[in-house]
Amino acid sequence: MSHAPAGSAAHEPSEEDQATPVRAATAVTFERAATRLGGRTIWRDVSFSVARGEFVAVLGPNGAGKSTLIKAVLGLLPVAPGSALVLGEPPGAANARIGYLPQRRNFDAGTRIRGIDLVRLGLDGMRWGIPLPGLPRRRREAKQVAEVLELVGAAAYARQPIGELSGGEQQRLLIAQALVRRPELLLLDEPLDSLDLPNQASIASLVRRICQQEQVAVLLVAHDINPILSYLDRVIYLAGGNAIEGRPHEVISSETLSRLYGAPIEVLHASDGRLVVVGQPEAPFVHGDRHGPA
Ligand SMILES: Nc1ncnc2c1ncn2[C@@H]1O[C@H](COP(=O)(O)OP(=O)(O)O)[C@@H](O)[C@H]1O
Ligand SMILES: [Mg+2]
Repeated sequence: MSHAPAGSAAHEPSEEDQATPVRAATAVTFERAATRLGGRTIWRDVSFSVARGEFVAVLGPNGAGKSTLIKAVLGLLPVAPGSALVLGEPPGAANARIGYLPQRRNFDAGTRIRGIDLVRLGLDGMRWGIPLPGLPRRRREAKQVAEVLELVGAAAYARQPIGELSGGEQQRLLIAQALVRRPELLLLDEPLDSLDLPNQASIASLVRRICQQEQVAVLLVAHDINPILSYLDRVIYLAGGNAIEGRPHEVISSETLSRLYGAPIEVLHASDGRLVVVGQPEAPFVHGDRHGPA
């Protein structure tokens, strides 16, 4: 790096400043965004924002475009028309500061890789984290892995082969892998899939704690809102090629969902606090067919 002439040095960014990207006020902002796949508009006019430290669920029926939304945040699909900003940059530019857990199924029972090695894979190919001068790289990485295992409560079983662990334990290790580089944004695509209800609630509570302690923004794709309802800040509900965002009880209401689906939907409040959505069509709507005179 060349030296700035004396006098202007105060305004010249130091090497340290350049290594630490400026923290934008919001983690994700979509404005009237649309995306297309295979010649079809998956959703359009989608506007929402996610602030630092906020826990937001992405809900909606199968095929509504929830995974597509996560991929658009990662810049794997273009947003057009409309605009998107992720950690203050165009989608894709800040991916080194994002932790991503793709939609998946469980590990095969024969999977021999240990949890701790799986988490360490999250560090590979990256130089990240707080530099600890004097510590050799391997020891520094071991420390980062140990810290994140502690954070998700997986230290006790991290040395066992992952195939021998329960679904909830595997999920904690996968979240640890997505967190090990201490991202500012965490994208979790159906991390609660295939977990029983107590495990869904415990993962949701873990995610809530991570948001608060680490000021990480989280977008979590879920099928059922009920196990996570009490932990969420807001929801983005995708259906019928559009999205509505807001507080959970504002969005999951008969009026709002009927408007979004363009069909009568009833939201029932069970005595135990659960929300039951009645009349929800599973098949995705296709844009282009619903426009013009009805
Ligand atoms: N690569 C692709 N090419 C064309 N269509 C796709 C592709 N991937 C997904 N789709 C379609 O896009 C829609 C949204 O998919 P997805 O985002 O996976 O839905 P969700 O995660 O909400 O279940 C679905 O109708 C799906 O069939
Ligand atoms: Mg999906």
